[in-house]
Formats: sequence, C-alpha cells, structure tokens
Amino acid sequence: MEDRIITSTYTADDQEIETTLRPRRLSEYIGQSKAKENLKVFIEAAKMRNEPLDHILLYGPPGLGKTTLAGIISNEMGVNIRVTSGPAIERPGDLAAVISNLNENDILFIDEIHRLSRSVEEILYPAMEDFVIDIVYGKGVSAKTVRVALPKFTLIGATTRAGLLSAPLRDRFGYISRLEMYTTEELVSILKRSANILEVTLEDSGAEEIAKRSRGTPRIANRLLKRVRDFAQIKSDSVITKQIADMALNMMEVDKLGLDTMDRRMLHAIIKNFAGGPVGLETISASIGEESNTIEDVCEPYLLQLGFISRTPRGRVATKLAYDYFGIPFPEDGTTI
Ligand code: ADE
Repeated sequence: MEDRIITSTYTADDQEIETTLRPRRLSEYIGQSKAKENLKVFIEAAKMRNEPLDHILLYGPPGLGKTTLAGIISNEMGVNIRVTSGPAIERPGDLAAVISNLNENDILFIDEIHRLSRSVEEILYPAMEDFVIDIVYGKGVSAKTVRVALPKFTLIGATTRAGLLSAPLRDRFGYISRLEMYTTEELVSILKRSANILEVTLEDSGAEEIAKRSRGTPRIANRLLKRVRDFAQIKSDSVITKQIADMALNMMEVDKLGLDTMDRRMLHAIIKNFAGGPVGLETISASIGEESNTIEDVCEPYLLQLGFISRTPRGRVATKLAYDYFGIPFPEDGTTI
C-alpha cells in the first residue's frame, strides 16, 4: 500500500501538495455541484440567523475532498475548525476536552468518524443534540454525573461509507452528503488550477491524459501531476505534454484507465482463480494479500464505477467489460474459462 502511486489514502507527500493546492473558498472548489449548491444555501441561512451550521456528514471514497470541503465550510462561515479523527479520540474525556475548547459556532471535524468507540459515540449524542456533555466521576454506586454545557458547535463527520456509522449517530446529522467521483473534465480543471499554482506548464492534452488516469480522484490527480512534473523536468524542458504524461504514467505502472497492479491483481484473481465470481471479499483479500478494507474503500469504488465488477449477495463478480479490457474471452454460458 505504501508505495502505491494511485492510493487514494492520505500520504505524507500529500500533506505538502494538499496544503498548497487546497481550495479555500466554495467558489474555487471544482465539482460536487450538488453538495456545493446545498451547502451554499445552508451556510447563508445559518449566517443570517447567526447560528451554527447544522451537523454535516460527508461520505465517499478517500481523496474526493471531504477534509477540503470542511475547511471551506469553516472559511465561508468565518469560524475556526478543529480537525481530529475517530481513532485519535480514545476516551470520552478526550472528546469533552476538544469540544469544550471550541468557541461558539466553531466546527469540529472528525475524520474516519466510523472509528469512534461506542463510549465516545454515546457522549456525542447529547453534545450534538443539546450541546451538553455528561461526565461521569467515579465508579459503581458512588459514581456521579455532572452535566457540562458546551459552546454551540457544528460537527462535520467524514467517513468512507455512510453504512459504517451506527443509525443513532447517522440520524443526528442534519445534512448527509455523498461525494461523487469527479469527471475527466472536472479533473482537468483541477489539474490546470494546480499546475498554475505549482508554476508548471501543462498542455491541454497532458492534463487530459493525467485526468483520465486519476480514478475520478483529485488527490490522485494532484499526486500524479507532481510525479509527471519530475519526468517533464528531465525529459522535456518542464512542459507536460500528452506524450510525457503517458510515458511517466506507464513507468509508474498506472494504466490507461488508472488501474495499478493492485486493481489488476484483484481482477485477475476473480477471473482466473474464482471463475469470474461470485467470490466473497475476504476470499479475494486472502488470495491477493491485501486488507479487505483497502479493497473495499480504495479499489472497489472505482472498479464499480467502471462497471468492471458488480456486487451480489453472494460476492463480487467480474463483468464482461473487465474480461474485454484484459482481452480474456468472456464465458457466455457462465462456466469456467
Ligand atoms: N483540489 C483538490 N480538490 C479540488 C477541488 N474539488 N476543486 C479544486 N481544487 C481541488
């Protein structure tokens, strides 16, 4: 996973890229038009009422801009944002400390909110609903509960799949937004904006080539841009042409559709080892030696989007499109090839 160039999960390298390239206002944010339109209205209305924004849940595959969007919301609201994550909040006291340090109307962003422990989740309910927190001192019969008032705040939660959240937590969000994969045109716009900021010359056809191979994901597009820039610097006077992009991406083993070795291994396993499926996620995971969570959050969304696999109650199935892409004859009668 660590050296996977098209991994959509956050790497140390991305920190530098994302802080310089991250849009700060809604007007700079490309794509996700449905979420943007809705948020614009909610933000304006909350500001007019001088109230905190309702709690928001953002979900979708990694790298689509959930953290970026949370930052933009805080800028548009003119409030501070405190960023943390589900695994970082170990005990109820950690959450209590974070929330009580917020100012009125501030935003608390919890990434990977599905990974909060049950005990932390439970103190989040009254915090979200009534802006209070119940702290328990002591144990057993001598335990005492003290109710502490909190500043009115907005929780923005991010998760890869909304279904990972418990129903009571999900129900407490006023607005739930699913982020979509970006179109090639949107990624081209993002790449041009990034190239401008990074002061690299990116030809239209070069941008298009990188966009088509970025799996609908801005984080991947920006990362590929950075790597292709290195090739361009050495091989073509720093100009990113289609040819240079193609050469660089081929060398990084990112194919025409943005699939890398992990995707290809997964598809080959389904087709060759399991006769095209259906095969369970855990079986695929064991067969290719990758974590099932990674397969589910990183590989599958894009393969589903391409129509290369489908999910059935009995497991994953490789479609005719996947067979065609690899030039493997599709077993029309459903039998093993
Ligand atoms: N960089 C990363 N995501 C972006 C987006 N949605 N719009 C503009 N720039 C971005």
